[in-house]
Amino acid sequence: MRNLTQPDLVLLAFAREAQERAYAPYSMFRVGAAVYTEEGETFTGVNVENAAFGATICAERAALSAAVSAGFRNITAVAVVGDSEAPTVPCGCCRQALAEFNPEMRVIMGGAKDDVMVMTLDELLPEAFVRGYLDQDETK
Ligand code: THU
Repeated sequence: MRNLTQPDLVLLAFAREAQERAYAPYSMFRVGAAVYTEEGETFTGVNVENAAFGATICAERAALSAAVSAGFRNITAVAVVGDSEAPTVPCGCCRQALAEFNPEMRVIMGGAKDDVMVMTLDELLPEAFVRGYLDQDETK
């Protein structure tokens, strides 16, 4: 657990605001996320469910896709807020997706109550499988 900072609270507020736009008619579990970039940009996302359940997109990956689609790949932090009583943690698939862009990013987690949890991504996903294992050209 890390100490909660003022920038963490700002990013969490973006995630909480986004959460209101979640599309979750099946699970009724609304999730909002916000990513922050080295350049100082913030991008938000929500979970977008689908009648074919497997086509559902998580909020964290929606926010990450928004940032990357806008040309921002240097993610320094992500905030996630879900309807759970305890702070909502990113699912395994989102941890992996986020690790692609910075395994050391801050992860700020909130729920329906005021409790907030702050960790780094590598605390949540140790020994992540990242592109270095593929020995690829990093300019791509
Ligand atoms: N969900 C997220 O958006 N992020 C997570 O990390 C956990 C799960 C969504 C997917 C689905 O719409 C709902 O929460 C219930 O699983």
